[in-house]
Amino acid sequence: MSLRKDFLWGGATAANQFEGGWDEGGKGPSGADMLTNGSFSSPRLITKTWEEGLYYPNHIASDFYHHHAEDIALMGEMGFNVFRMSIAWTRIFPTGVEEEPNEEGLAFYDQIFDELHEQGIEPLVTISHYELPFYLTEKYNGWADRALIDLYVKYCRVIFNRYRDKVKYWLTFNEINCGTMPLGNFLSLGILNKGTREFTDQADIPALRYQALHHQFVASAKAVQLGHEINPDFQIGCMIAFMPAYPRTCHPKDMLKMQRHWQNLNYYCGDVQVRGAYPFFAAQLWKENGVTLAVEPGDMETLRKGTVDFYSFSYYMTNCVSHEDSQSKVGGNLIAGVANPYLEASAWGWQIDPDGLRYTLNELYARYQIPLMVVENGLGAFDQKEADGSVHDSYRIDYLRRHIEAMKEAAADGVDLMGYTPWGCIDLTSASTGEMAKRYGFVYVDSDDYGKGSFARSRKDSFHWYKKVIASNGEDLA
Ligand code: BG6
Repeated sequence: MSLRKDFLWGGATAANQFEGGWDEGGKGPSGADMLTNGSFSSPRLITKTWEEGLYYPNHIASDFYHHHAEDIALMGEMGFNVFRMSIAWTRIFPTGVEEEPNEEGLAFYDQIFDELHEQGIEPLVTISHYELPFYLTEKYNGWADRALIDLYVKYCRVIFNRYRDKVKYWLTFNEINCGTMPLGNFLSLGILNKGTREFTDQADIPALRYQALHHQFVASAKAVQLGHEINPDFQIGCMIAFMPAYPRTCHPKDMLKMQRHWQNLNYYCGDVQVRGAYPFFAAQLWKENGVTLAVEPGDMETLRKGTVDFYSFSYYMTNCVSHEDSQSKVGGNLIAGVANPYLEASAWGWQIDPDGLRYTLNELYARYQIPLMVVENGLGAFDQKEADGSVHDSYRIDYLRRHIEAMKEAAADGVDLMGYTPWGCIDLTSASTGEMAKRYGFVYVDSDDYGKGSFARSRKDSFHWYKKVIASNGEDLA
């Protein structure tokens, strides 16, 4: 039941939810900077400009921009050997269309990578994590326009060359399959159709979304090829939001619905990025969504040549599907689903399912047979900070312990698992609700949902626990 000796242990963040400093150092506004705060019951709003009286939580986030030395030291103390982060595209190209990159932004990440290496931590960099330059939304309606491919490749060329000897692990797009869902319009594709105001209820043109996704696939494949030319040692992966669904019953129609769910939501994107071609079921999916894909000469060859080196994914929860509409619904990462009577859910309605992770790892490895990495997992929970700064988060330890056990079981099954970076290792702003109160971290950040607080960092019980887990390579989970 042992994990690889060179197992990568760490944590994960994204610039827009963690850095703050949204208008410092020459950074331009990203889509995330246009999102207001929300909650479990009230949706975030997408605004085209900053409206009086509304609050934009990503502007400050956890203020890593001014706390990075302290934060990276804390990661070192826990024993991280990898840290998943993203580069904010808008720090490098504030609008996305400049000819020359912003040196101040490049220097900022030089400093981050140097600090990480001083602690023996390898950066794992997501190139685009839900933070498209907002200018590209205004000018092109985001990835709906093919022009984005070249702009993305230009950005990749700059960061690959600059960090050639500082970064080995890269992910081209965060949760690229978010674009298969209406929520992905703005969040993942930078598309803002007329009539959209609420993050959870966006005006949706499915054909446009699938076209935009095609542009992302081509861009990703070009980036993989370019990265390998610049440094053949680069390991470049895809990143999929894995959302397993079980059939609610053994009714054959539930089985068929489950299969369709896995194909269209979980496999569609990974198949293109790992196998280098659209899967057979794409034709049916396009038909159902009125898609006539505009493909340029050379696109399919680009996809074929730009396959990824490893497969990474986020895993938080599972749901059920049913052919009956009457079943009770629960929440989940990116999409809601039918409740599973055997599972308990978090305060945000995400059903906790460690066995589903073992199942998923087995399915993925059987399908792709390349190394896998769990780059997001964790429990968003309300924490109570004590006067001495401690947080007794036994519920988080329990969640993580059970998921690490599941990873070990999958490794024993024969799955090649590279590493684990639980989400929001230092508390950060929630993507779905914009809350700070939905905390995932080992480290508590003293800030509320409105950026009020000292931003002081303190160690939770899970911090000390995870340190032992890492030191024992996952053997000591007590
Ligand atoms: C993933 C995203 O979907 O889930 C992250 O990649 C996000 O950006 C994470 O923060 C957890 O979701 P939430 O909504 O709890 O922040």
